[in-house]
Amino acid sequence: MRGLFVTGTDTEVGKTVVAAALCAALAARGERVAAFKPVVTGIEAPSGGWPADHELLAAAASCAQTPEEVAPYRFGPPLSPHFASALAGVEIEPERLRAAATAAAWRARADRAPDTGDPGALICEGVGGLAVPLSDDYLVRDLARDLGLPLMVAARGGLGTISHTLMTVELARAAGLDVAAVVMTPWPDEPSPIERSNRETVERLAGVPVHGLAPTSPDDLAVAGAALPFDDWL
Ligand SMILES: Nc1ncnc2c1ncn2[C@@H]1O[C@H](COP(=O)(O)OP(=O)(O)OP(=O)(O)O)[C@@H](O)[C@H]1O
Ligand SMILES: [Mg+2]
Repeated sequence: MRGLFVTGTDTEVGKTVVAAALCAALAARGERVAAFKPVVTGIEAPSGGWPADHELLAAAASCAQTPEEVAPYRFGPPLSPHFASALAGVEIEPERLRAAATAAAWRARADRAPDTGDPGALICEGVGGLAVPLSDDYLVRDLARDLGLPLMVAARGGLGTISHTLMTVELARAAGLDVAAVVMTPWPDEPSPIERSNRETVERLAGVPVHGLAPTSPDDLAVAGAALPFDDWL
């Protein structure tokens, strides 16, 4: 499976913006890209001007997926997946997650134009951070490992990000995951001294490239995403 798994240091750190920017940039180049989000919660909560994750990802990708195909499990309250599913009386089944991700990846491959050589790509967004339980004993980390995709870590640029990012990278590596890059988002046009220092420090201590995703909007994702060197990560 060719693609990337976008995790984050926390919830609300920019995973969807990064994942959707990658989808939009690939789609803008005319490539086939499908999106996947194992579980979306909080679809009844106000979103602050951005569409719900599965809606934005479906719109940014290029394989005519419905939002429901992007995210097989959807819950209203803004809760951890294992708790939201327990309240709804729905069991999140790892096997169904893997099957849905594989179906999305196949969609990116299956109907590609045969003469372009476009291999297709799957962009997955995790849920919260890497240690979030999807079910009782199956973490986001376990899904990332099962899918075998390189990891991207979305992170804040400001105070507190060094430790959160290094912990995420350590957990990923302990599970045998390949960390391709960290993306700090939104990365301002004129970063402050602390933002610059955080970027350099994470790069040095984690030993991964750290990039910034420019401030963007739902209508302008392809431009922001195109500035990321994603060909190096796929
Ligand atoms: N590059 C950016 N440009 C503009 N806004 C951004 C950018 N990156 C992050 N944000 C802001 O951060 C918010 C949270 O981002 P996002 O929804 O991608 O987080 P998330 O990690 O996917 O959250 P969740 O854990 O709920 O899935 C966005 O709604 C947006 O306001
Ligand atoms: Mg999200």
